[in-house]
Amino acid sequence: MGLTTLNYRATKDYKFMHFERREEFSISSIVNANIQVLLQACFPDYPSHQSYFKQVPHSRILVWEKETLIGHASLEYRKIKVGETIMKAFLIGDICVHPTFQHQHIASKIIEQIETLGKENGLDLMIVTVSDTALYKKNGFVVVDNICRWVMLQNHSTLGVIERNLNNSLMVKMLGQTSWNEGTIDFMGYIV
Ligand SMILES: CC(C)(COP(=O)(O)OP(=O)(O)OC[C@H]1O[C@@H](n2cnc3c(N)ncnc32)[C@H](O)[C@@H]1OP(=O)(O)O)[C@@H](O)C(=O)NCCC(=O)NCCS
Repeated sequence: MGLTTLNYRATKDYKFMHFERREEFSISSIVNANIQVLLQACFPDYPSHQSYFKQVPHSRILVWEKETLIGHASLEYRKIKVGETIMKAFLIGDICVHPTFQHQHIASKIIEQIETLGKENGLDLMIVTVSDTALYKKNGFVVVDNICRWVMLQNHSTLGVIERNLNNSLMVKMLGQTSWNEGTIDFMGYIV
C-alpha cells in the first residue's frame, strides 16, 4: 500500500534502476533514514535530523539503484488560486540526485514521471521554487513573476502570511489547456 511502481526503462548502465512513488504516511523508518542520507549528501544545509524542510510532503518519488536510494523529489498536490482562477497543481520540492549519478538525466526523468502523473490525472500545472533555473528550463518550465501569497512556516510553527514577488525563482510548466495569467498566486498553504 502507498507504493506505486512507475514505468521506467532502465538505461543499459544502470539496469537495476527503479522509480517508485510513495505516500508519505506509509514510508518506513528505514526508507526515511535513506532519504535523510540522500538529502544530506545533496543539500549541505539541509536539517540533519529530518527528511523535510518545513513540512512533510504528500508523497515522494524515489529512485533506487539496487538497494541504494540515488534520487528523490517531494510532491505536494494542491489547489491554488491564480488571479480568480482555481488551478490544480503539483508543487515539486527537494529534487536531488546523488552526486555519483548526476548528469545522467535522472532528475529530468523524475520530472517527466511527475508530468505524466499530472497529465493522467487532469492537473493544470507543475510548480517549483528554485535558486538555479537550468534543470527546469531544460524540462520546459518558465520563470513567472506573479505576486505570491503563502503561509510561512519555521521550526514547526506558523509565523504568518507573506505576500510578495519571489524574485525570479518561481517556475511553472502548464500541463493542460488552462493558460497562465498574471494575477496574484494564492498558494492556500506553505510553499514547498
Ligand atoms: C540539480 C540536480 C537534481 C540535477 O540532477 P541530474 O540527474 O544531474 O539532472 P539531469 O541530468 O536531468 O540534468 C542535468 C542538468 O541540470 C542542471 N543543473 C545542474 N545542477 C543544478 C542545480 N543545482 N540546480 C538546477 N539545475 C542544475 C544543468 O543544466 C545540468 O545540465 P548538464 O548535465 O548538461 O550539466 C542534481 O544536480 C542535484 O541533486 N543537485 C543538488 C541538489 C539541488 O541543487 N537540487 C535542486 C533544487 S532546486
